[in-house]
Amino acid sequence: MDQRKRVFSGIQPTGDAHLGNYLGVFQRWAQMVDEYECYYCIVDLHAITQDYTRDQLMQRVFDLTLSLIASGIDPEKCTLFVQSHVPQHTELTWLFNIAVGVGDLQRMTQFKEKSTGLESVNAGLLNYPVLQAADILLYRADFVPVGNDQRQHLELSRGIARKWNARFGDFFPEPETLTGAGSRVLGLDGVSKMSKSKDNTVPMLAGPEELWSRIRTAVTDPARVRKNDPGNPHVCNVFALHEFFTQSSVRADIEIRCQTANLGCVDCKQTLSDNVAEHLEPVREKVAELRAKPDQVLEILADGATRAREEAERTMSVVCERMGLGRKTLSEGIRKLTAQG
Ligand code: TRP
Repeated sequence: MDQRKRVFSGIQPTGDAHLGNYLGVFQRWAQMVDEYECYYCIVDLHAITQDYTRDQLMQRVFDLTLSLIASGIDPEKCTLFVQSHVPQHTELTWLFNIAVGVGDLQRMTQFKEKSTGLESVNAGLLNYPVLQAADILLYRADFVPVGNDQRQHLELSRGIARKWNARFGDFFPEPETLTGAGSRVLGLDGVSKMSKSKDNTVPMLAGPEELWSRIRTAVTDPARVRKNDPGNPHVCNVFALHEFFTQSSVRADIEIRCQTANLGCVDCKQTLSDNVAEHLEPVREKVAELRAKPDQVLEILADGATRAREEAERTMSVVCERMGLGRKTLSEGIRKLTAQG
């Protein structure tokens, strides 16, 4: 029996993982596998609440798997799987629907953001956080490492656990948010979080040329207009990115030369671009290597799903028993009721 605290986290297969994913999520996930018992889930069932095509979805699930493994997430040390390969996620979602109010779901910030302007809103968007609660509680996770944008969903998951426990008996722990460690990476606009929907990303698997074409467009210190204006590295997003890819002595040099107008932004970006390319070269190689062996990757996912399913079944048997559902519960229940006459 594993004595470690349990972590659950999920990531949507939205295509083309970027530096924000790599620095904020993948590296963090990779680091956690020794300290915690980790369940990492590619949440395709969440992804289908938004427009998609089936081929695109499958490709994205596969590509994300490659990127996760290539970034150092060791599938031998954690349970890495795809949400739809474990049907209990869907099952528990339905059961949790009775432990959450429609009003609470309608008040979720992310629901409001995603549904405004749409002509018709599919019910999946509304129930999205119920599925997320099911993800986490199915494994009775202690901790969920997520960014600020998911805090509200986590709070809702705790509410669902509380409500269900109050009605059917204590069973689900209330999962806590695990903050820190993960880096918040701004996009090339220097304003919002790096995100595919904002079109401000640097794709993590881009080759040197594509990297340069993206990084070249990054917004730097807005007060620095001409090359011989002194800049302020501490408000510059390019300098912030150097933190992750450039050794500290070089960074110190960049800092001074920027402040004294002895280094132009283009050169500074060029250094960054080179360093990002170098840093991610082994990851790109690993992705290429894995891509050439799809069977091996699918085997890893099959194995992860098998392990996840075992745990999910344990939870569902308790849940069904407490809620009076399922064949086993019914036969035992009826036998008892009959005996009582
Ligand atoms: N909603 C999360 C996101 O968009 C993804 C997610 C789904 C998740 N299920 C989860 C995150 C469970 C943590 C735990 O980032």
